[in-house]
Amino acid sequence: MNNPACGRFITLEGGEGTGKSTLQSALRDRLAEQGIDAVLTREPGGTARAEAIRALVLNPPGEQAFSPLAEALLMNAARSDHLDGLIRPALTAGKWVICDRFSDSTRVYQGVTGDVSPAVLLDLENHVVGSTRPDLTLILDAPINIATERRSARQGVEDVFENRDKAFHQAVRLAFSDIARREPERCQLIDASRSAPEVADAAWHLISQRFIPAAVKG
Ligand SMILES: Nc1ncnc2c1ncn2[C@@H]1O[C@H](COP(=O)(O)OP(=O)(O)OP(=O)(O)O)[C@@H](O)[C@H]1O
Ligand SMILES: [Mg+2]
Repeated sequence: MNNPACGRFITLEGGEGTGKSTLQSALRDRLAEQGIDAVLTREPGGTARAEAIRALVLNPPGEQAFSPLAEALLMNAARSDHLDGLIRPALTAGKWVICDRFSDSTRVYQGVTGDVSPAVLLDLENHVVGSTRPDLTLILDAPINIATERRSARQGVEDVFENRDKAFHQAVRLAFSDIARREPERCQLIDASRSAPEVADAAWHLISQRFIPAAVKG
């Protein structure tokens, strides 16, 4: 189980600006130090077709968002293509995959904040993800004001999800921490209010402890 040569599927989750993409790069570097070449990918996206769906959902024609149900279907269509075209082949080849957002984001954005029935989302998730569940999901948790400051410092084009009020971001935060509480075997909540190196250290500790025990000792 602890053979690092066996590919692992790790997903990074959390609200906007919590530091998922930053952590993804840091984890790639830590894995590279162990001689492990990880595949970095993101959702929605990761394949040409899924990236096309990403562009459609995040910046919909007419600037008005799709309905939460339509979003859930599009996210799952993108995920299905991503799993078939990239994630499963990589894992089968023994590679590690680090994915920036995955199915928990659909549960949160289309379910909790979008009000799509949890039964519908669960059914879709079971069909689309099947047995390709993440080995580990790191959920980045930070107070809303910290994430907001980071987003505004970063500068860039906002999309339909980012451009919402404080109550929305608070609901997102609560929903992610709820998933971490309900699925403690798969999910680990990480205090993302700390500096980027401290967050990377905490995440690396969890990963190496679980999957690369030799790295913990070394
Ligand atoms: N721990 C940290 N401390 C301070 N700044 C950070 C930290 N992590 C990331 N940042 C900075 O905050 C901004 C947002 O980080 P990042 O893009 O990684 O977040 P994200 O979760 O991927 O956001 P999004 O959901 O919008 O893609 C970036 O400018 C990044 O450099
Ligand atoms: Mg990001």
